[in-house]
Amino acid sequence: MERTEWPGVFRRGRDLFTRNLDPGHRVYGEEVVDDGGAEYRRWDPFRSKLAAYLLKAAPAAPWGGARSVLYLGGAHGTTVSHLSDLLPDARLVVIEKSPVAFASLLALARRRPNVLPILADAQLPERYRADVGAADLIYQDVAQRDQARLFLENWTACRSVRARGLLMLKVRSVTQSRPVERVLAEARAELERGGVAVRGRTDLGPFSRDHAALAITEP
Ligand SMILES: C[S@@+](CC[C@H](N)C(=O)[O-])C[C@H]1O[C@@H](n2cnc3c(N)ncnc32)[C@H](O)[C@@H]1O
Repeated sequence: MERTEWPGVFRRGRDLFTRNLDPGHRVYGEEVVDDGGAEYRRWDPFRSKLAAYLLKAAPAAPWGGARSVLYLGGAHGTTVSHLSDLLPDARLVVIEKSPVAFASLLALARRRPNVLPILADAQLPERYRADVGAADLIYQDVAQRDQARLFLENWTACRSVRARGLLMLKVRSVTQSRPVERVLAEARAELERGGVAVRGRTDLGPFSRDHAALAITEP
């Protein structure tokens, strides 16, 4: 297993791995590899947009130095579990509105002390902002219509002074009809009007079709 430029992420051949915080347990049927007395879980870029983003954009680790993460749209915990591997000492507050997916997150949290799932609608950050405190990273992957607005509301309510954001924008959830470029330009303009800077935009194909990652900071 070789180290990569991203702290906590390893590579074997073309595959990415994270070191399993919960040895002996898989989260989504991922391959597990033992190496040098440690266990590593394969991080599938077709299942996790964060892994796809690393491979496509080769950015500085978006989670670098984060002590607290707000994760919007945790689903069954695929990406959450890898962030949990990467940030053993941080707190990951995970918002999910589907009770079925939330049950998976609860099971994950029983085994991983750094994961705190909350059953809530990410459109209502006032319901959970006290549990989040100040988040150093706000990660959003909710695949719904008003993704830019939803991001801004959570950014305003929950960010720390040094926060970064990563918005995994699903273009086809915003509209089925308008051209992709126009949807992305509109989302970017809405974010910038809302007071954040969009530092980069990465197309996540072929891993996630119709998705772009927007890297966000304070202006
Ligand atoms: C594409 S999936 C997320 C996949 C996940 N981020 C991963 O990589 O493992 C989108 C999730 O967002 C959730 N979601 C959609 N709208 C939401 C909202 N307003 N509040 C909270 N969760 C929401 C859905 O229930 C679904 O589980």
